[in-house]
Amino acid sequence: MKKIIFVCLGNICRSPMAEFVMKDLISKEKFKLEITSAGTSGEHDGEFMHYKSQDKLEKAGIKTQGFVSKKLTQKLCDESAYIIVMDDSNLKYVLRNFQRIEHKVLKMTDFAKELGYDEVPDPWYSGNFDETYHIVLTACKNLLKTLKKEFNSP
Ligand code: 4NP
Repeated sequence: MKKIIFVCLGNICRSPMAEFVMKDLISKEKFKLEITSAGTSGEHDGEFMHYKSQDKLEKAGIKTQGFVSKKLTQKLCDESAYIIVMDDSNLKYVLRNFQRIEHKVLKMTDFAKELGYDEVPDPWYSGNFDETYHIVLTACKNLLKTLKKEFNSP
């Protein structure tokens, strides 16, 4: 099964949100795709997601069980068809630290161009989990359409 991975800095706010939104969207489709997420820092390895990301997801009816924060590795990069980063610093980090990925790194905001953001704002700093959720949801919906076409799914 094809796998995609969402990447942010801490893997507790943005990329877990994207992982679980995408899992929820995919669960309503015949289309099968493995979805995961990771952080570039590894600082929160082994932790659950930020309680405010969990809150946004649960309020939207999206289950969050089973999440464990992890650091991005070369193995995860090798296994993934696409690596979807939240901001320019994630992009810079992955390009500097991992091999064989240039052709498969994408920016999350490229799938939500209509919203006019160049990066997904980090709610760890902005405190605005609503704004981040709105961008993540919009991008995931468009990303799903793109992946369905790409992987030739009905
Ligand atoms: P995330 O947000 O990259 O969206 O998970 C952050 C979470 C934690 C930290 C920074 C950003 N931190 O510095 O611990």
